[in-house]
Amino acid sequence: MSRRVIGIVMNGVTGRMGYRQHLVRSILAIREQGGLPLGDGEVLWPEPILVGRSAHKLKEIADRHGLTHWTTDLDEALAHPLAEIYFDAQLTQVREQSIRRAVAAGKHIYTEKPTAESLDAALELARLARDAGVRNGAVQDKLFLPGLLKLKRLVDSGFFGRILSVRGEFGYWVFEGDWQEAQRPSWNYRAEDGGGMVLDMFPHWRYVLDGIVAPVRSVYAHTTTHIPARVDEQGRSYRATADDAAYGIFELEGGITAQINSSWAVRVDRDELVEFQVDGTEGSAVAGLRECRFQHRAATPKPVWNPDLAATESFREQWQRVPDNAEFDNGFKVQWELFLRHVVTGSEYRWDLLEGAKGVQLAELGLRSAREGRRLDVPDLAL
Ligand SMILES: NC(=O)c1ccc[n+]([C@@H]2O[C@H](COP(=O)([O-])OP(=O)(O)OC[C@H]3O[C@@H](n4cnc5c(N)ncnc54)[C@H](O)[C@@H]3O)[C@@H](O)[C@H]2O)c1
Repeated sequence: MSRRVIGIVMNGVTGRMGYRQHLVRSILAIREQGGLPLGDGEVLWPEPILVGRSAHKLKEIADRHGLTHWTTDLDEALAHPLAEIYFDAQLTQVREQSIRRAVAAGKHIYTEKPTAESLDAALELARLARDAGVRNGAVQDKLFLPGLLKLKRLVDSGFFGRILSVRGEFGYWVFEGDWQEAQRPSWNYRAEDGGGMVLDMFPHWRYVLDGIVAPVRSVYAHTTTHIPARVDEQGRSYRATADDAAYGIFELEGGITAQINSSWAVRVDRDELVEFQVDGTEGSAVAGLRECRFQHRAATPKPVWNPDLAATESFREQWQRVPDNAEFDNGFKVQWELFLRHVVTGSEYRWDLLEGAKGVQLAELGLRSAREGRRLDVPDLAL
């Protein structure tokens, strides 16, 4: 076995996503499994080079996990002799400048979504990466979740017949921060800091719909701020200037209607924090993060509307589970492995910065639709 070391500059590892999903559950998990096999007896060994604003937080993370490379200076990290990839899980607002510096330093780019705050900036980053000849990718983790992989299996098998509609429910109660601490960072609720439901979740809905059902062709969104004041990490109250809920209707290619509610001010009466129901002429399915249930046309009950009688059957018991049929790894890790292979072997990789820009496009159009109160077309993007 020969070991090929690849240095990854990881920015934002003190944050929720950067630490838990990317550093611990992806990169360190790849090391724990002995590296990433490349074939021909070669193993890829990711070496994190942590970068951020707080020396003591970085040192603490490095010590906890036995890592040796960390710095508060981005240029120093990019100049590290092992560094080949730059990864960004910072606050969205500060991402663009860091990615620009990494591209200029010739690094391959992998980044959290949204890839930038505006479509122009997202496209510019994709162009810069293309022109510099560096490989690039944007996180689209939901595509690699067991529940959505099972849904994709149903779509690919032709199970649905003609797909008619998609209805998505996403959300949970995010505490206001006064009598119970909020479970999300306060910047998420401030527009001036790049927060907001649309900017956060529409990039996900774009690749989920495009990648599993059909390309998104138009958007109508109604947004609101249900909770106008919250309390931040320091216990200070602040005004929530960003949308905390978005009610979106999307037209997809082939005349499919998708409707997705996204809210941080809703209490969960679902099996999972996100669920998508897909209805087709031949059958329907409900997919969450892990599970996917389906009902075939031949097993569809025939309820008759009669408010005078109690329901005589349990509708939820009339669905079957899609079996696992495979081992499902962490979705973030699966995508990291595909990206790392792409970087070192040139294997196919579809989820690049242009795909990431499509997510920013849908968020931007969604916000504009909400402001103007009208439906907007989603034009094709090209570099
Ligand atoms: N793929 C997903 O499912 C998913 C989920 C949540 C968040 N995200 C994305 O990940 C990114 C990070 O989100 P998070 O929830 O981990 O946020 P977080 O607040 O927990 O972490 C933010 C990180 O950015 C760093 N940072 C750099 N400059 C900063 C500044 N000026 N102000 C504040 N922080 C700064 C922080 O130190 C920290 O490491 C965002 O772009 C977000 O959209 C993705």
